[in-house]
Amino acid sequence: MEDKKEEKKEEKKEEKKEEKKEKEEKKKESDEEDEEEDTKKRENQEEGKKKKKKKKHHKKKKKKDENKIGDGPRENPYRELFKWDPKEVNNSRAQDNSRFRVIGSWKEGEWSQTNFPTKDIDELFPNKDWPVGVLCDYGADNIWRATDKKKQELDKLQEFDLLSLRKGAECHKQIRKYAQRFIKPGMKMIDICIELEKMLKFITNAHGLDCGQSFPTGCSLNDVAAHYTPNPGDDTVLNADDVCKLDFGTHVNGFVIDCAFTIAFNPIYDNLLMASKEGTNTGVKLAGIDARLGEIGEGIQEVIESYEVEIKGKTHKIKAIKNLCGHTVGQYKVHAGKSVPIVKKNDDTKMEEGEMYAIETFASTGKGSVFDNGDCSHYMMEEYATPDKLRNDKAKALYHHIKNNYSTLAWCRRWLDEGGFKNHSLALRHLIDHEIVTPYPPLCDVEGSYVSQFEHTLILRPTMKEVVTIADDY
Ligand code: CO
Ligand code: CO
Repeated sequence: MEDKKEEKKEEKKEEKKEEKKEKEEKKKESDEEDEEEDTKKRENQEEGKKKKKKKKHHKKKKKKDENKIGDGPRENPYRELFKWDPKEVNNSRAQDNSRFRVIGSWKEGEWSQTNFPTKDIDELFPNKDWPVGVLCDYGADNIWRATDKKKQELDKLQEFDLLSLRKGAECHKQIRKYAQRFIKPGMKMIDICIELEKMLKFITNAHGLDCGQSFPTGCSLNDVAAHYTPNPGDDTVLNADDVCKLDFGTHVNGFVIDCAFTIAFNPIYDNLLMASKEGTNTGVKLAGIDARLGEIGEGIQEVIESYEVEIKGKTHKIKAIKNLCGHTVGQYKVHAGKSVPIVKKNDDTKMEEGEMYAIETFASTGKGSVFDNGDCSHYMMEEYATPDKLRNDKAKALYHHIKNNYSTLAWCRRWLDEGGFKNHSLALRHLIDHEIVTPYPPLCDVEGSYVSQFEHTLILRPTMKEVVTIADDY
């Protein structure tokens, strides 16, 4: 953990340097230089493919660019978190996921990453040509958008958001693929989260508020539907009979990827998992410009509740959880205002051009509604909160730490510990009491029930819908 503190200090130094340089560099850096760099990079890449020796040369060149701003090449400070054993690294894209239920295996195919990952996202795509998501036209009434000149121009105006989403989504895919490789029954939940978050920092090349994790690694078990991540000292272990919702997010320039799948090893839950998987696929299909939120909820509910599941000799009708919803995502906002119900609702609100949505559905063997229960781990700072009324110095320091590191994104108590705020309980209490920070406690269905979840992120581009998080696994 001390390593991480040092890294943060370094990061802060870097950030300050960069802030100063930023304005000057942006003006001074001529296009010619950029072009030169680009061609150098391309050349180096091609050379690298041919001979390993020349890869070293490439790395040396990269070091010179260490302090470059933004998305440019930068020495990845998280690389040293991993001690790569060459025996464990292969070049195959394929990965067998068959010990997980309802999750697909990764297929062989073209890619430049290794398995497990040894390259960060900026190394993998030096030309910033992040993979395109799954594209869908808007169907009958709105199909004209795909070829409309004005909509195509509007599409270009939103390119920055789109590219950020694509980059974050590619990171998400690689991180979850890694998670699917190492997660096994018997592991402590806290170790799973720490390992995943380590890889997330490395792959995203996490840097201040530029890019990194957008909310804590949710790993809610069984009757807990959402908002559980272990607090420090929580030794809960993943059991072979658990139903675990792995819900984690990345962000690039604040554009949030929110994407989740359910981990189960026991086949008895297959129908429960299928219900939310198909529910989410239905929501993704129904989403579109002018689609009505209430109708999407109705479509999702119909699919989820067409399933039943037999667990230990008892048949359960599966229910969609009526008080959990999908949601719009925005810049530095995991929930940007609109909710997508997963049951029938009288809500005529329409989805609109340019919006980004996290479509998520929850299937349950319980009552089909959740309530707050258990130790709180997830928190978020209010957008317009100020520290003015704070009297307590520790609370003030914590306020600034949160504001600087997470802004309005969500965070957890474990991260406060890692950030050097070991005994934060009282200070955190102050921030909650002053309504600066809002707690998001675990959301649970009745005891003994099981809940599954799947989630994808999409963007309603002016011309077409792009689902950025779909991959071989789900
Ligand atoms: Co989520
Ligand atoms: Co979500």
